[in-house]
Amino acid sequence: MEGKIGMSDAYRRAWQRSIEDREGFWSEAAEAVDWFAPPAQAWNDETGWFGGGVLNTCYNMVDRHIAAGRGDSLALIHDSPVTDSVRHYTYAELGEEVGRVAAMLAALGIAKGDRVVIYMPMIPETVFAMLACARLGAVHSVVFGGFAPLELAKRIDDATPRVLLAASCGIEGSRTIGYKPMVDEALRLSTHQIERVVLFQRDRQQGEIVAPRDIDWADLRAATATDPIPAPVPVKSEDPLYILYTSGTTGTPKGVVRENGGHAVALTWSMANIYDIAPGDVFWAASDVGWVVGHSYIVYAPLLVGATTVLFEGKPVGTPDAGTFWRTIVRHGVKTFFTAPTAIRAVRKEDPDGELMRSIGIGDCRAIFLAGERADPETIAWAEEQSGLPVIDHWWQTELGWPALATCFALGDTRRRRGSAGFPVPGYDFAVLDEMGHPVPNGDSGAVVMREPLAPGAFRTLWNNHKGYQKNFLAFPGWYETGDAGYIDADGFVHIMGRTDDIINVAGHRLSTGQMEQIVAATPGVAECAVIGADDAIKGMIPVAFVVPRAGLADEAALHAAVIAAVRRELGAVAALKTAYVVQQLPKTRSGKILRNLLRKIVNGEEFTTPATIDDPAVPALLVAAVHPTVAVD
Ligand code: COA
Ligand code: AMP
Repeated sequence: MEGKIGMSDAYRRAWQRSIEDREGFWSEAAEAVDWFAPPAQAWNDETGWFGGGVLNTCYNMVDRHIAAGRGDSLALIHDSPVTDSVRHYTYAELGEEVGRVAAMLAALGIAKGDRVVIYMPMIPETVFAMLACARLGAVHSVVFGGFAPLELAKRIDDATPRVLLAASCGIEGSRTIGYKPMVDEALRLSTHQIERVVLFQRDRQQGEIVAPRDIDWADLRAATATDPIPAPVPVKSEDPLYILYTSGTTGTPKGVVRENGGHAVALTWSMANIYDIAPGDVFWAASDVGWVVGHSYIVYAPLLVGATTVLFEGKPVGTPDAGTFWRTIVRHGVKTFFTAPTAIRAVRKEDPDGELMRSIGIGDCRAIFLAGERADPETIAWAEEQSGLPVIDHWWQTELGWPALATCFALGDTRRRRGSAGFPVPGYDFAVLDEMGHPVPNGDSGAVVMREPLAPGAFRTLWNNHKGYQKNFLAFPGWYETGDAGYIDADGFVHIMGRTDDIINVAGHRLSTGQMEQIVAATPGVAECAVIGADDAIKGMIPVAFVVPRAGLADEAALHAAVIAAVRRELGAVAALKTAYVVQQLPKTRSGKILRNLLRKIVNGEEFTTPATIDDPAVPALLVAAVHPTVAVD
């Protein structure tokens, strides 16, 4: 990490110190958080980060700002083009709202360590609910609304919550999606019995109250209106704040456990040093609270530092048009904006010459950060040219909770190379390994790993599955395996090129093709199948299925429809599987392994050489004919 052009001294010093003097660096960072009892040390192999420390994350997000005289500062802006409304909450108002939900949960008996599942859309009540759990020391698990009832049921069975908080519906562009029927179905499918469902009724569509299990949110709020607001419950640094499930390589989602102390310290550090956000600044992450970006950068980080966060209930296009990002930035004085490359591609498609951006402007915005999937150089170039702002690709994962690769913009680092997600963020030490676990020279590709222990905030286990954590992530001793493939170039830029497993990123949403394969394989009429991620101009990747029908099955159209419907029903709309090719044979090696890479190349229309190990060399040409019927096949 020697000095290079554009590398700031501040960044270089910070990174080096975070590795060489881990204790000093992170102990200092921990001073930005208010502790009931300060940590005894920064890292400890037993307790992880900030052992001995006692804190409350909600206290750090609300009470301390009010106590510091900032109660009138703006905390939350709910901007909802889909309901044509904008609501503002000061820190004092946020404190009151969070307190009321905490009182509601306390009245239901929710206490420290209890789990609460939240299945709610992009409305302020979702934020209040998350903070209310944090206040009580309860552990929330937010489930993204685009997941189907079966996925919700799996999460309920794993997290075993006492209470489920739901909203009656979500609004997706011009469509209203009933959430309550999905909740009812999930509770029918799950084995674990929930004690209570608290239903927030939205004007657009009300849900059915199933007595005695369900309670109307408004009724519970009224019944507890005079209850005192529960005091923030002291929790240990290593106590869980939330569980967030993410796609693994099997059909069972992995419950990433986020601990209170490391999370609060890391996110606080990131706001000042990566995103350049201070108290009173407006930060907007255009993601969804159901994903890790939403957890960290819509809800937790901006409020931890006393900034203003924007909760945007809309899409990059169609609500009402491709100018909605720029309009929202200008309207609220957003200083730093964060979105996914797919959203920029969607905007570019509708407004290729950036006319809307030019006519609306970009207000006081200073930088655009991108994450969630690889940012292709063309998308970055377009966004930079149109906006005149630095567009900063940065890389992270649900497992980490905050960026591990970035340009530490706020530390004065200006280096960017299109196609790379930047440099290691302080606390993270990267290497690229070959299959034997040996570091490869710069420029060579391999498995991207980081030295253990990971920075504060990163997970240290999976809920109910510590063995799975060790098996999935710690296969190379001393290293955390990211699951991504990539390389470090001669100048130290890290390039993340794709996954080493069957996870794909569809419109910035992380999905498992392995899981989709399990669903497709179980569809009546399917003899065997493969699901791969194909390139897509807007969503980055989309899943595509290849299906071999059982002998004698004639109705290919019906099989196609059944496969698509099964994935939507069991995984959810977010899977976005729209294409299934019904074929007579899959390309396989002589040992029976499906050649998925070959399928990918065929779908993408790329050149390929038929592998020498293929069982039947005639198959690729038949597949090309099925996928690209207009292409001449020899
Ligand atoms: N609740 C219910 N359904 C949802 C949902 C939610 N919260 N989110 C998405 N869905 C549904 C959509 O309605 C769609 O259903 P359909 O197949 O019936 O049309 C399906 O899931 C796929 O959604 P999506 O992948 O979002 O595609 P889209 O065509 O609706 O929108 C984009 C495309 C690019 C505009 C959109 O994906 C987008 O804004 N992406 C950015 C993602 C992002 O910020 N990710 C966070 C990582 S940082
Ligand atoms: P998630 O856990 O949903 O945040 O997805 C994490 C995965 O998304 C990573 O392991 C990468 O495969 C991919 N990803 C996220 N951000 C980037 C990025 N900036 N560049 C390349 N891939 C990314």
